[in-house]
Amino acid sequence: MQKGLATRYAIYEILKILKNHPISFEQAYFKKIENNKFSISDYKMIQNVVLNSMRYHLLINIIIKKYTNNIKFSHNVYFLLLSAITQLLILDFKNFAVVNSTVELSKDKRIKTSPNFVNGLLRTIIRNKRNILKYKINFDQLPSWFIKNTFSWNTKQKTNFLQTICEEPNMHLVYKNKKYLQKIKLPIIKTTSFSAVLKESLPIKKIPGFKEGLWWIQDFATMLPLYLNRNIKNKLTADLCAAPGGKTFQLLTYGANVLAFEKNKLRVKLMQENLKRLKLNCKIEMQDVLKIKEKNKFDLIILDAPCSSIGTIRRHPEIFFRNTEPNFKKIISLQKKLLEKAVKILNTNGILIYMVCSFLSNEGQDQIINFLKQNKNFNLMKFSRESKIIGKSFIDKKGFYFVLPSKLENGILVDGFFAAKLVKNDK
Ligand SMILES: C[S@@+](CC[C@H](N)C(=O)[O-])C[C@H]1O[C@@H](n2cnc3c(N)ncnc32)[C@H](O)[C@@H]1O
Repeated sequence: MQKGLATRYAIYEILKILKNHPISFEQAYFKKIENNKFSISDYKMIQNVVLNSMRYHLLINIIIKKYTNNIKFSHNVYFLLLSAITQLLILDFKNFAVVNSTVELSKDKRIKTSPNFVNGLLRTIIRNKRNILKYKINFDQLPSWFIKNTFSWNTKQKTNFLQTICEEPNMHLVYKNKKYLQKIKLPIIKTTSFSAVLKESLPIKKIPGFKEGLWWIQDFATMLPLYLNRNIKNKLTADLCAAPGGKTFQLLTYGANVLAFEKNKLRVKLMQENLKRLKLNCKIEMQDVLKIKEKNKFDLIILDAPCSSIGTIRRHPEIFFRNTEPNFKKIISLQKKLLEKAVKILNTNGILIYMVCSFLSNEGQDQIINFLKQNKNFNLMKFSRESKIIGKSFIDKKGFYFVLPSKLENGILVDGFFAAKLVKNDK
């Protein structure tokens, strides 16, 4: 198969997999590219087109519907068109290259669709490009499960959410040591004395300090809860859901005495590689936290629980793209069980920090309110609002840490996140 066609066929296949299976973009991407010999620029193109096709699919669905009634969003031709329209309208690729390769691909017997139909539709879209670019999506076009879970949002929250979810996420670097950050020679926006956003994204290995292990990538909203609690030197700490490791690296750099738990073997391996690059040491227990022996006790427990990951919608647009909704019943029950286990292995006067990369109340606030009802010996502690920190507005009246995916005043984009800090009192 000719090169342009092979990359576009890979895009078509990845999109189709992500529509129909509850797997992450990374899993689908690596599964499809591992046996293909693409160049680095091809890999980048595949990633770019797939991610943007998913980010803009709701808008593109409206465009497709405007020009034809003949397509269901499960048909083979849909994935071909979604990819092609993204290339034409969003990524501004050359019209002739996109149309020619898509028409050629439509002849492939694995796709089986009408080349004339594809050709006609894409050319109509090119002719009407100026007008089409004015289309916008409304909040009520988002998946119904999401609308149901955000019923209390006001218009401003809805507008802000729609305005930023299609943007490319920032590269936010968290440094092991303040002095390394001071030496960086790239254009940055500093977010704390340990962290900064790169004004322009770079391939990760090209960012100075990668090889030396001076920093790791972690979103600003997700690093702040532990940053605001960094006075933990020598504290006996359990990081219960640790991989790929961002929170563990923070705990280690703040001097905590950490034992990390993670049950997924591949993720443990990834975390070990990360620790090695960063020249940090930490014991990782590869096991199911629900089976930890309860004679072990800790002064600080970090529970960064599995969740819908909706806060990372910019990095994981497949959450809105796929056919199925997150299995909230299963996720919420697991979070509850993990919290119950944390109760059993926390010392009296110990602190439990619960976090999820979700801003939905069923995984965040409600989960903790129910927890406090059932565990009367726990109290909610307010997160401190350090005056110089740009994220001080992330702490709500109750003292929860709560962030929606948004653009801050200084222009940086942050993921959505929730955290609660709890203290265990005597019975
Ligand atoms: C949100 S991620 C953690 C992210 C991590 N704290 C970080 O900062 O990089 C949740 C992790 O919990 C792990 N996990 C889920 N259920 C678990 C369990 N029962 N025991 C241990 N690990 C679990 C998942 O494999 C996943 O790696």
